[in-house]
Formats: sequence, C-alpha cells, structure tokens
Amino acid sequence: MTQIGLVTEDMASYKGDALVEGVFDDLNFKGLGQAHLLAEAAKRLRFKGNAGEAFFAFDRVGAPPKHLLVVGLGKRSEYGPSEAREAAALAARRLRERYAATALFDLRVEEAGKRAEQVLAAAVEGALLCNARFQKYVTDEERRFGGLSGISLRVEKKTPALSKALGLGRALAEATAYARGLVNEPANVLTPEFMAERARELARKHGFTLKILDEAECAKLGMGAYLAVAKGSANPLRFIHLSYRPKGAKFHLALVGKGLTFDSGGLSLKSADNMGAMKSDMSGSAAVMGTMAAIGTLKPKVAVDAVMAMCENMPDGGAYRPGDILTSMSGKTIEVQNTDAEGRLTLADALCYAQKRKPDAVIDLATLTGACVVALGPDFSGAMGNDQALMDSVLAAAKDSGDNLWQLPMPKAYNKYIKSAVADVANISKIRWGGAITAGLFLQNFVDEGMPWVHLDIAGPALRDDDGVDAFGHEASGAGVRTLVHFILDKAR
Ligand code: BES
Ligand code: MN
Ligand code: ZN
Repeated sequence: MTQIGLVTEDMASYKGDALVEGVFDDLNFKGLGQAHLLAEAAKRLRFKGNAGEAFFAFDRVGAPPKHLLVVGLGKRSEYGPSEAREAAALAARRLRERYAATALFDLRVEEAGKRAEQVLAAAVEGALLCNARFQKYVTDEERRFGGLSGISLRVEKKTPALSKALGLGRALAEATAYARGLVNEPANVLTPEFMAERARELARKHGFTLKILDEAECAKLGMGAYLAVAKGSANPLRFIHLSYRPKGAKFHLALVGKGLTFDSGGLSLKSADNMGAMKSDMSGSAAVMGTMAAIGTLKPKVAVDAVMAMCENMPDGGAYRPGDILTSMSGKTIEVQNTDAEGRLTLADALCYAQKRKPDAVIDLATLTGACVVALGPDFSGAMGNDQALMDSVLAAAKDSGDNLWQLPMPKAYNKYIKSAVADVANISKIRWGGAITAGLFLQNFVDEGMPWVHLDIAGPALRDDDGVDAFGHEASGAGVRTLVHFILDKAR
C-alpha cells in the first residue's frame, strides 16, 4: 500500500509531484506564497472553501511540484473527521487525473483542536482509500495507474498522539482495503475455498485459531438451513471460524458475516439485470475478515469469534426448492418460500454456531435485502437489534467512522408476516413492504433469549455503482469494517 507519513516541512520546499492545500471558508491562504494570487483565483473560480470544492491553482511542466490543488474544508468551527476524510478523498481522486505519484497534504490538522487526532486518522483513510482502483485484471498498462505511492501529511508539530492517530488511520484504511479487495474479486475467483485460504493466511499471520468445516462436518452439527442453500453449487461450501483470544480480554464479541460468494437467487432466479452485482453478496464476511486483519495489527483486549458460512446460491438439479422445509442447527424448522431469501438461512445456522461460543454480544453484517436499499438508499446501512444499549454503542462507533448507519424498528407485530402454516417460520414475508425489517425479525428467531445482538444490513453501501464520488471510493466500499474496529477499540478501553 501507499506510503504515508507525517512531515512538518513547509509547502514551499516540497519536491514531490503535487501539493494539496486545505482552506476553510474564510479563504485564508496562510503559509502559501503568493496568497493574494490564490485569493484572486479562488474568487474568479467562485471557489468558496466549502467541502466538496477543489481547484488546481497551478499545473506546470518542469520543476516539481507540478501541481497545486486547493480543497475546501468548510467552516473552521465545524471541521471534523468527516470533512477531513472527504477532503483527502477528493484530493486523492483529483490527483489521479494528473497521474501524481507523490503529494504533500496540508489539511490544517491542528486547527481541528480537540479533534486533531480524529481528523488526522480520517484524512489518512480518505487519502489511502480513494486513491485505489480495482485494476488487477486490466492488462493494458496505459489504463493502469496505481495512484499515489507516497503521501506526506503536514502537521505543525509531530507528537506521539498524532503519530498514533496516523497508525490507527492506516490500520483502518488497510483493513477496509482488504475487505474491498475480497468483494471486488469476481465469483469465478472468490469461491468458498478461496475465502477459506484467505482465512488460513490471516490465522497464520496473526496467530488466530482457525476452524474450517466442510459439508460433512456442518451436516454433523445439524446445519440444515445453510446446507440447503449450498446444495445447488459446484463449489463446495466452507464454514469459517476464526478466533482471537487476547490475555485480559474485557469483552467477548462474536461477529457473523453473510458469505454468499454469488447469489443467483437459486431456483427463484433473479432477473439478468444487475445479477453481476451479486458477486458482492459476501460483503458481510469480507467486512468480518477486514476487521480481523485490523485486530491482528492493533491487538485490542477484546476476544473475538468470527463466523462465516461461505457458499454459493445456484439453480441446479441438486438445488433446494421453494416448498422445502429445513431443520436449522437450532432445531427450528423453516419453510422455504423463495430460494432468493438465502442469506437469512445461512445466517440462521451461523448465528446459532456463534452463540455456542458464549459471547457477550453478537453483531452480524449482511447484504441481506434490496428492501433496505429502497428504504435508505446507497449510503446507509440499516441497523436492527434486540438490545438498545448494544445498538447505541454500535451507532456511537459508526459515528465519524465513514460508515453511515440508521436504526430501523423491530415491531413484534410484523412477526405475523413470516408465520408459516407448516413450519416454525417462513423465509419470506407475506407482504411486499418492510422487507429489511421482516428479514431482521426472521434472524431474531435464531438469537437466544437475552443475547445482545445487532444486525447490520449493508446491502446499500457494500458495492458502489459510480466511480467513487465520495470517500466510499469505487466498486466495493468495505462497509462495516471501520464501525466494527471502532466498536472493538471502544470495548477494549
Ligand atoms: N443478496 C440479496 C439482497 C441484495 C439486493 C443485496 C440488492 C445487495 C443488493 C438477497 O439474498 C436477496 O435476494 N434478497 C431478496 C429477498 C426477497 C426474496 C424476500 C430481495 O431483497 O429481493
Ligand atoms: Mn438472494
Ligand atoms: Zn443474497
């Protein structure tokens, strides 16, 4: 990944490709030569210093730096991590247009006052994440560009606290990028076994305990719901369980990630348009893997079990059918009314397995419903659960993280919509409306009484369909990773 470090040097003496100068809406071009010329240019370009605005003050050939990019930071009094992340992301994207390989960013870190460390970490995330493009399979050298290889972040004074914030920002960005890399892989590459191999790598690198169960072992545990979903695929399932057990752990968290390497819908086949996006149906498990990567680096005092029931949902002579009645690991039976509501079936067994580790709380992440995308749009994940205290700490961890969460209600009355005449519960709702909520209520059937649980439906943010218009970046977003890492770090305190 891109090198990134703190510097205190003047913008004037920098010899890399590009300078990035953040300005507030007071348009004070402090610290830059020819401040009056910059002010004049800003005026002519109607640049107000608002967030989301940027202009190239110069582009030149010859002596470096070749480019000076001015980015708006908004109101000084409102400057925080979100503004810094967006400004750094915008700058990284604009510098790609100039094929800049090295840059010095001055984003006025210390002017954020008490939030300077948070601002610095967020700037690191924005710069690193929006710099990257998924170009692994583009062979034309002319079309490939790795983005910035070296970033210097200017601070007034290097302090241990700011250095630590840099390390945190880098770890969060790397974990998010790792999750994105997994989601970006197409389903012909990222199979359940491919993911298992990545889990073996993580376990080896960080000393995690790893269990990988095959079909026979899952059958022995009674995972009838998960097994049914996997049956139609030529790619064998892999149930992945990573565990991290630090000394003196203050909390024990179980993470469950939906891991459909591809979701065709099964016999209830999806329509052709956008089916390709269903390579991202393992984004929940990718977020869990990314979180484990960060945990390996940051080593917080929180025990974590990471559980991922990986499989592929395909139509085939061996596939499960609408009308099938499945017996889940918990003993509860499920009537399959639609084979495209498969994620909740795999999660039912994964949740049951995870709770047998006796965690203090369970968080699951899943690209579970199109209904959640209809409700909240592409930028927000839906959050549901059974314990408001846990919910509040997840929402607090998400705040300023770059992930957007919005809590949805869990009305008991809606349970009537997932009743089945022939089994304990049906896998789809009788009505079209409120599909994100009825999916959440379905999952709640597999959460033990008294076990604090939060479900994050990340179907909206997981995969971006524009070319990185904001700090989410392009293609896979790594949604959920930073919320989980912040949550775990909060619990380790
Ligand atoms: N993986 C999909 C949900 C999804 C949709 C994720 C769009 C990302 C973007 C899930 O398995 C699914 O197919 N859900 C169905 C449920 C329905 C059959 C009750 C849906 O949302 O249409
Ligand atoms: Mn589906
Ligand atoms: Zn799915």
